[in-house]
Amino acid sequence: MPVTVVVLAAGQGKRMHSDLPKVLQPLAGRPLLSHVLKTARALRPQAICVVYGHGGEQVRNAFSDTDLTWVHQAEQLGTGHAVSQALAHVPDEHRVVVLCGDVPLVRAETIERLLETPAGELALATAVVPDPTGYGRVIRNDRGEVVRIVEEKDARGSDRAVTEINTGLLSFRAQELRRCLSKITNRNAQAEYYLTDVVGLAAEQGICVRGIVVDDVVDVLGINDRAQLAAAERSLQRRIAEDLMRRGVTLADPARIDVRGQLTVGKDVFIDVGALFEGDVTLGDRVRIGAHAVIANCELGDDCIVHPHTLMEHSVAGPNCEIGPFARLRPGVALARQVKLGNFVEIKNSRIEDGSKVNHLSYVGDATIGAKVNVGAGTITCNYDGAHKHRTVIGSGAFIGSGVMLIAPVEIGEGATIGAGSTISKDAPPGELTLERSKQLTVAGWQRPTKQRK
Ligand code: UD1
Ligand code: MG
Repeated sequence: MPVTVVVLAAGQGKRMHSDLPKVLQPLAGRPLLSHVLKTARALRPQAICVVYGHGGEQVRNAFSDTDLTWVHQAEQLGTGHAVSQALAHVPDEHRVVVLCGDVPLVRAETIERLLETPAGELALATAVVPDPTGYGRVIRNDRGEVVRIVEEKDARGSDRAVTEINTGLLSFRAQELRRCLSKITNRNAQAEYYLTDVVGLAAEQGICVRGIVVDDVVDVLGINDRAQLAAAERSLQRRIAEDLMRRGVTLADPARIDVRGQLTVGKDVFIDVGALFEGDVTLGDRVRIGAHAVIANCELGDDCIVHPHTLMEHSVAGPNCEIGPFARLRPGVALARQVKLGNFVEIKNSRIEDGSKVNHLSYVGDATIGAKVNVGAGTITCNYDGAHKHRTVIGSGAFIGSGVMLIAPVEIGEGATIGAGSTISKDAPPGELTLERSKQLTVAGWQRPTKQRK
């Protein structure tokens, strides 16, 4: 049967106290709504309708996807009203799945369980939680059939104590849903048209309402405030960590890793505590990531070692490279094989060939460095003249002494040696020693100044 997914995303999220619409708040580095849309797509529906309203254009512009039907809800009159707006676009025979933009961790498996029920029934995902505060309560009769949902703000007496909650996720055929929605009113504590009232109306008409209890409550965590956002972030990170371990990664502590994007891993990878991955990161076999490394949009070849407190962005390293501790790779770094970058080394937009080393306290920007080059401690490529950036080229086998200033554009020939402390502003020939130093002198009888007594 054809399925249309309706995603409710028009609410303001008052409890967030934010200028950013709730569905754009980030979870694992992506807007809440993008998580829900990913699940929606996994169901392979005929259409996905997103009901938007609060933060209108800001929400729409955050998603350039062409498979979405945007439905504007000018006034947020309630979840029932929101679904009605979307139904204008849905044929009678479609099965409608309602997802909430603020319930981001629901998995497709969970929704599929709703879709396995007979088409004429109303299927509702519920959860049994220790603390139902804030959620609608699922009321069942003596035979265990769901008869209605009572919202927290309308719940009295024994209804309040019910611990089975409405997750906000349901599935119903468009025809019946439309009929029930036409009958709901806003006579309730919030003066809103509640989608949840459809449940009572369906039950009254003798339609079977299936309350399907979800296996994992993480699936149905609703996010209304920042504490719930933080809790959902931890739950999602835990899921990601478990998935990585299932794929053969050793995590020093599965509670202390953050992945905000897509992490692709080889075999026998080890990740120490506090590591943060952003965007698309690929780690080859046996890669070791040190504590508190931050790696964004990078690719690391087999057997690479990243030592603690290293920050890397938009860079690529071939096999057997060793980076850090405290190294910073800015965008555009390409390391070939077995390259070593040590502590307090900053590299940007540079290519370094096999076996070269920049071990201590250097800045290398806009450089091309050949194979087996040694760049001494404190060496700097002076790539910026105040207006333009210039390249430094260092040939294979060159040895750059400590504390050298390479004033770009400049080229150091293959196998050249540059004496420590030199300021090199002209090309240095291959195979020779080039240095630039003033003559050392000792001033005889010179005395340090002393403080004068007043
Ligand atoms: C809703 C349910 C509650 C359930 C909870 C689960 C209703 C009446 N209540 O309550 O039973 O336990 O979700 O998380 O459905 N929205 C619109 N237009 C509106 C109002 C809301 O698009 O006019 C959207 C919101 O952006 C949000 C979703 O619908 O994504 C749910 O709205 P929210 O106000 O968060 O409802 P809850 O109080 O959480
Ligand atoms: Mg909510």
